[in-house]
Amino acid sequence: MKPTQTRRITSEHTADAVSIWRDGGLVAFPTETVYGLGADATNDHAVARIYEAKGRPSFNPLIVHFAELDDVKAQVIWSDQAEVLSKAFWPGPLTMVLPLADGSKMSKLVSAGLPSLAVRMPAHPVARALLRDFGGGIAAPSANRSGQISPTRSDHVLATLDGRIEAVVEGGACDEGLESTIIGLTDTPTILRPGTITRAQIEQVLGQPVAIREEAGAISAPGQLASHYAPNARMRLNATDWHDGETRLGFGDVDCDLNLSSTGDLTEAAASLFAHLHDLDAKGAKVIAVSPIPDKGLGRAINDRLGRAAAPRPDDQV
Ligand code: TXA
Ligand code: MG
Repeated sequence: MKPTQTRRITSEHTADAVSIWRDGGLVAFPTETVYGLGADATNDHAVARIYEAKGRPSFNPLIVHFAELDDVKAQVIWSDQAEVLSKAFWPGPLTMVLPLADGSKMSKLVSAGLPSLAVRMPAHPVARALLRDFGGGIAAPSANRSGQISPTRSDHVLATLDGRIEAVVEGGACDEGLESTIIGLTDTPTILRPGTITRAQIEQVLGQPVAIREEAGAISAPGQLASHYAPNARMRLNATDWHDGETRLGFGDVDCDLNLSSTGDLTEAAASLFAHLHDLDAKGAKVIAVSPIPDKGLGRAINDRLGRAAAPRPDDQV
């Protein structure tokens, strides 16, 4: 791939980022969950470049981000369930997978050939300003090389994408720190990826039980999970004691090298998880042993990411 000089754009200069998008370029930008790697969702060439920059298998579809509800509704078949969920959680960290509308202008590469589209309206003020100025859908996976830890600061983006994308817009540290909750609405409502909006919150708003796709959150069987969110270090989960040579990532009132939340607060742990994994990798940790995290509410989303980070890596098989 031809090398690109990656610029840092401050949040006052969003017009520069928008003009790069209009020209088919790639700009990473902050959202309340993680930084996204954005491109014009209607532009086949620009979307193809996302897959190339990430090194992502092209069958893995992308989320499209919007500022305005009317723009979302033009691309998907809207439903009553989508309406109540959007009223309750948008703008915010919820992605809905809906049937693609006949007249959708999205590049076919965005949904990787599926008859559905994942849509989200982020709450981060910089993301909203960018999307409003752009005036359409921006396809954006997390702004990291495929399989690696998601970025919650602009430095994390540059760590793996410098020279592969045109720019990153500065927006400080992401508040939520975990990717959005994804709910599939093409059939019975099903959580496809746990996130900071919990199943209980969604069930309350929909007034009905919601399924969870089985492998999501299956920390008891990391062998079933595709490796993802992986640091360079190996991971040992549910560590109640520490072995020699391990770097200790604690939760709650434990003696450790770095703590996700010394008070046992799951929101704080979610916000710091990826940043702590980045920091421990930078320090050259070989094995990261992680304290048990309660598997309820937001803990379920944290355990989902930890389970994938600990899953066998492709190079383990050779
Ligand atoms: O918080 C987030 O959602 C971040 C920020 C940047 O918005 N984005 C993000 O994107 O996490 P990404 O590409 O890393 O994850 C997208 C997930 C993938 O697991 C993909 O399989 C799923 O969404 N997805 C996208 N379109 C889908 C579809 N049509 N049907 C089912 N799953 C879909
Ligand atoms: Mg990702």
